[in-house]
Amino acid sequence: MNIVTCIAPVNIAVIKYWGKRDEKLILPLNDSISATLNTEQMHAKTTVMTSPEFKEDKIWLNGKEESFDNPRLQNCLKEIRRRAKENVNSEGDIDCSWCVHICSQNNFPTAAGLASSAAGYACLVYALAELYKVEGDITAIARQGSGSACRSILGGFVHWHQGSASDGSDSIATQIVPESHWSQLRILILVFLERKLDSYRSKCSLGMQKTAETSELLKHRISHSVPRRIQEITEAIVSKNFEKFAELTMKDSNQFHAVCLDTFPPNVYMNDTSHAIVSLIHAYNNALGENKVAYTFDAGPNACLYLLEPDVPQFLSVINHVFPPASQTSEYLKGIPVESTPVP
Ligand code: PMV
Repeated sequence: MNIVTCIAPVNIAVIKYWGKRDEKLILPLNDSISATLNTEQMHAKTTVMTSPEFKEDKIWLNGKEESFDNPRLQNCLKEIRRRAKENVNSEGDIDCSWCVHICSQNNFPTAAGLASSAAGYACLVYALAELYKVEGDITAIARQGSGSACRSILGGFVHWHQGSASDGSDSIATQIVPESHWSQLRILILVFLERKLDSYRSKCSLGMQKTAETSELLKHRISHSVPRRIQEITEAIVSKNFEKFAELTMKDSNQFHAVCLDTFPPNVYMNDTSHAIVSLIHAYNNALGENKVAYTFDAGPNACLYLLEPDVPQFLSVINHVFPPASQTSEYLKGIPVESTPVP
């Protein structure tokens, strides 16, 4: 039996991906940028095994066997096996006809709008690539599991290029800077909805499709706002300009949710608590005369906050004051340094 175990963290986008030009290959309508968290906190851990004894491909997610009849999963495995066959055939190579068993566990709420599929598919593809000794870029394979998963393959700040090739060969992720570049940067994730959203994955995917079909604002976003922001935020990251980085991050989150509301029927992901956090952060930044904290929200109500390490204690005391410790918000508060990359 051949066996590999990997860990891959979630990533939090600062310029959001939303909308696909190809549903099957998962090719996006715009570029996006994110930071990958360190491996210690929110991550997926996946073991992949292959053996001539196995009778069929199988997958267990968080201890429960799930159907292997999942086109995204099958596409990733098919592509890994295709690439493995191209590399062949030195002695000791794995026979691609053997079945595979996959066992994956998240250490954070699955499918609650917290990028669990990004970590899950990044981890799966990385582990399979190690198992089948696939070399070269694997971000384009992870992308076919879940778009944002391509960004979790790499550490630090990562840029997913939309690309223009119809086969998706240039829709890959590249690293802007490694995790060590901005060592003072921290991410806080305020989890106030931990339950599993019913069929979150299909709702997210359907929501994206509806936006692409119906939102006029999306056209402006992908042709004007995103290309400019990608350039500006890259400069802010490289020069560690937090003021500018924070402004662009908040504006892009707001525009992403505006586009979701401009969808017909609308996609509503933020709730009253999310809006209370937004108001609190603007009041906090105004009081201090500069952007000390930036919020961003994915397709769910939980808040992801970027800030610098020296500002964490003061900001946490404000959060604990406004959302007292008895409430769920502070109970589930997690402080996460931005660092690291999947480790085999
Ligand atoms: O990769 P998906 O299908 O889970 O889509 C993720 C989309 C957002 O999280 C809302 C934005 C992003 O760029 O991560």
